[in-house]
Amino acid sequence: MSRIDDLISTMTLDEKIGQLIMISLGADTIVTGPKAAADPSVADVRAGRCGSVLNLVGRDRIHALQKLAIEETRLGIPLIFGLDVIHGYHTAFPVPLGETAAFRPDVWRESARIAAEEAADDGLHLTFAPMLDLARDPRWGRIIEGPGEDPHVGRMLARAKVEGFQSADLARRDAIAATAKHFVAYGACTAGRDYAAVDISERMLHEAYLPAFEAAVRAGTLAIMPAFIDIAGRPLSGDKGFLTDLVRTKWGWEGIYVSDYDAIGELIAHGVAADFAEAAALALKAGMDIDMQSRAYPEGLKPALERGLIAMDDIDAAVRRVLAAKERLGLFDDPYGRGSVAGGAARPLAARRAAARDAAVVSMVLAKNDGLLPLAKSGGPIALIGHASVKDDEALGSWFALGDMNPITGLADGIRAAFPDRDVIVERGCDLALDGPSPESDDADIARAVEAAKKAEVVLLAIGEPALLTGEAASRTRIRLTGRQEELARAVLATGKPVVLLLGCGRPLTETWLYDAVGAVLITWYLGSEAGAAIGDVVSGARSPSGRLPVSWPRHVGQIPIFYNERPSGRPWAPGEHFTTRWVDSPNTPLWPFGHGLSYTSFEISAPRAPATFRPGESLTVEVDVADVGDRDGATTVFLFLRDRVASTTRPIMELKRFETVDLAVGERRTLRLTLEPEDFFCLGPDMVARAEPGVFDLLVGESADREKLKGIAVTLLDEAAVA
Ligand code: NOJ
Repeated sequence: MSRIDDLISTMTLDEKIGQLIMISLGADTIVTGPKAAADPSVADVRAGRCGSVLNLVGRDRIHALQKLAIEETRLGIPLIFGLDVIHGYHTAFPVPLGETAAFRPDVWRESARIAAEEAADDGLHLTFAPMLDLARDPRWGRIIEGPGEDPHVGRMLARAKVEGFQSADLARRDAIAATAKHFVAYGACTAGRDYAAVDISERMLHEAYLPAFEAAVRAGTLAIMPAFIDIAGRPLSGDKGFLTDLVRTKWGWEGIYVSDYDAIGELIAHGVAADFAEAAALALKAGMDIDMQSRAYPEGLKPALERGLIAMDDIDAAVRRVLAAKERLGLFDDPYGRGSVAGGAARPLAARRAAARDAAVVSMVLAKNDGLLPLAKSGGPIALIGHASVKDDEALGSWFALGDMNPITGLADGIRAAFPDRDVIVERGCDLALDGPSPESDDADIARAVEAAKKAEVVLLAIGEPALLTGEAASRTRIRLTGRQEELARAVLATGKPVVLLLGCGRPLTETWLYDAVGAVLITWYLGSEAGAAIGDVVSGARSPSGRLPVSWPRHVGQIPIFYNERPSGRPWAPGEHFTTRWVDSPNTPLWPFGHGLSYTSFEISAPRAPATFRPGESLTVEVDVADVGDRDGATTVFLFLRDRVASTTRPIMELKRFETVDLAVGERRTLRLTLEPEDFFCLGPDMVARAEPGVFDLLVGESADREKLKGIAVTLLDEAAVA
């Protein structure tokens, strides 16, 4: 008999239910959900009332609790310790949307690996990441946590992150399990309001929202977290069709579902369960394994069993999956391995910091440059103005859970280090003002900032969105600067000095007037531990920027949702014709398209080359030449889009199929070979079956989704019947 069968045969009902419960024990330091009626405690562990714990950090505390579970509970089953390790553990990397902008899977993988090494070294086993929610509505604060608007990018990010966190062997002492979240379409919440209902078509779900999760499953993610929301009346946390029929049966996944915080209990508020017993039964029957912090499994599973809503087999199946996960993590054989001296995060601190600095450099997006950047190494004073220049921890973003972190290289230090021969005058300018009016002291601060600007040769204006207004439960209707930052910007611009905007944000901000008024816009997101050093690298030209926008950047909030791969209209916009799809008060295009991002050098991209015809089932290799034709080294991202001209259902105007970011030396020319697989040409027919439909496809390549600048050729997928 296997260890798991053996255990299940001896477990009491209470012990089984305990394995399906995850409690939060970090309430003193880390709070990631609403307040519970009664806080769980160590007594729950001793009594076998839980099988996993979240939000507890510190290897001594974790090991002590593990010891208690092993030595003081009847069966001695080890606990799983989980935490939201979102963009780094000790060493903070750029926030996910920012890091996505790097378009470098190797960077995505490496930052997850380093985070896993550090977290595992602190005793942790599981992270609630990667967040894979496609987001086309920047009003939603959680857009910052994910891969942006494109399904292919989501797929690539999913794979890189799962591989990075888990490594090749989940039982390794430096590996932690990944949780693909939030399954699925959470980002489509109505009007971008967090936790609100979702109503999207099945086609949109399959074409846009599911691919990243399928990729995470293929990459072997140990866990999946169902989303809080319902899709068209089906709350995910209790939906068998999604959780079991699709993911377990169709995709063949064998991992564990961990609910979102209190989400099973919230099935009552959704109105699909009358009490905890019904909520617990719905979730368990759907395939949900672990209840994070709700009272549904603790209080509802037993009554559900008594009422006949569930059977013991349903409980056993979930317990079996949880124990199997513990086995895959190596916890039965090595329960204290992670965090033990021998386990150790072997990588020296300097190497981790260098990786964080590099990730930060390649994540920045130079959205506009009138030639102001890079700044010369010598010259007159630089005025560094704005809240971010004095508040270093803004660079950590809204979700960096640990108190025990490396010092941050702040913006002022980074700029001073990058320009040792220039004066750097630092002024806060004004408060970031989370909400409501800014303090009156701002009058004096703004006046001082204006004086600094007058003395300077150039201004670096480091303003944006307060990190605390991004992330969970941070939806906004006005995605603009807060407090008196607009006033500050106008006052600084009125001095006539050249201004470089360093824009800290976790989503597009619709300050189109400001982007027009300044000489350069560098989007700096929240870049992590080495933010200041990295910004110094780019502003001084030590490194050329190469990040690209993973989301279309709207001109105005009224354009939302705006994304490049929309389906065609029967009345496409045409100049001079009234009855076409358009706004009367705004262009249809975003301010900056998906993939937009400038460099200090320039590139030439050839038209794509590919065989004119190919057969069903064959792959197709597309060649593109790319050259650095400017006067310095740099990197560019080549995007390959596909357009299916005529199909049985309307196809997006174009779909991203491949991207590759290439580092090039001045004058260097390379040929990229991008291979498209048969599935890349599939189309979901009216019957929702994916198949290749013969006909003509356009292959389009370029440095962004700006359709005016793409170069293309047509290829034909032959009709097998006609060929024969
Ligand atoms: C709620 C969030 O939705 C989820 O992303 C997170 O992992 C959990 N809280 C646990 O902290």
